[in-house]
Amino acid sequence: MAIGIFDSGLGGLTVLNAAAKRLPEVPFVYLGDNAHTPYGVRDADDIYDLTTMGVQRLWDAGCDLVILACNTASAAALRRMQESWIPRDKRVLGVFVPLIEALTERQWGDNSPPREVSVKHVALFATPATVSSRAFQRELAFRAIGVDVEAQACGGVVDAIEEGDLILAEALVRSHVDALKRKMPTPEAAILGCTHYPLLEDVFQDALGPEVKVYSQANLVADSLADYLGRHPDMMGPGQDSMFLTTGDPGRVSNKATQFLKRRISFTAA
Ligand code: DGL
Repeated sequence: MAIGIFDSGLGGLTVLNAAAKRLPEVPFVYLGDNAHTPYGVRDADDIYDLTTMGVQRLWDAGCDLVILACNTASAAALRRMQESWIPRDKRVLGVFVPLIEALTERQWGDNSPPREVSVKHVALFATPATVSSRAFQRELAFRAIGVDVEAQACGGVVDAIEEGDLILAEALVRSHVDALKRKMPTPEAAILGCTHYPLLEDVFQDALGPEVKVYSQANLVADSLADYLGRHPDMMGPGQDSMFLTTGDPGRVSNKATQFLKRRISFTAA
């Protein structure tokens, strides 16, 4: 009954961590495509090919339901996968919708027409590929009207986190927040639209100021997964064991993951 969680690298561990806390009885199989990270500077075809390979590996590990804990893959590949690639007995869910439902004060799965919401000025921080896909704005437009979104492509941040260079990552975050504030001086809310960014949530909050509400995905995705499994218990796959798989160097990735999550994580080769 394992659930698969996929990311281009380490960022999806923020989602895995929250999901494992929320659903302690469920085995999770995590796959990080560390050999090909970052995805955010790749084109859509490349992201599609890499994401489908990763999801197939998780299906092979007994996970009928896979969470794309990667905004870049969700933005650039998920719709195409759902239209033509995913078999009827499998599911792949992205990470955008739970976040947008929270921002627009909706219950899970409320598909009523778009309406006015209290938040009017939203800053979106994401990878270059997520920003250029405009997927976030599209999903938001299905649910809300009159929301002004200013997007900031945060080049370099994922690379710095994957390298474990948190000093560089922090400097880049501060400069990206400055750039955003030049375009939108007083956002009411900020979306961390990349699963790597919660590792630097304090830095985003500090640079944005206490009056800006920062939305990050881990707990929202974990709650919506719990809700989904309550409604679709049949989507628990046959896999029994939790494991961490990587396409990169397992020793190196284990050390970085352990540093980020502050508990021992052991990856094996995918
Ligand atoms: N964690 C991925 C995301 O949420 C990072 C993408 C990348 O590899 O650039 O977008």
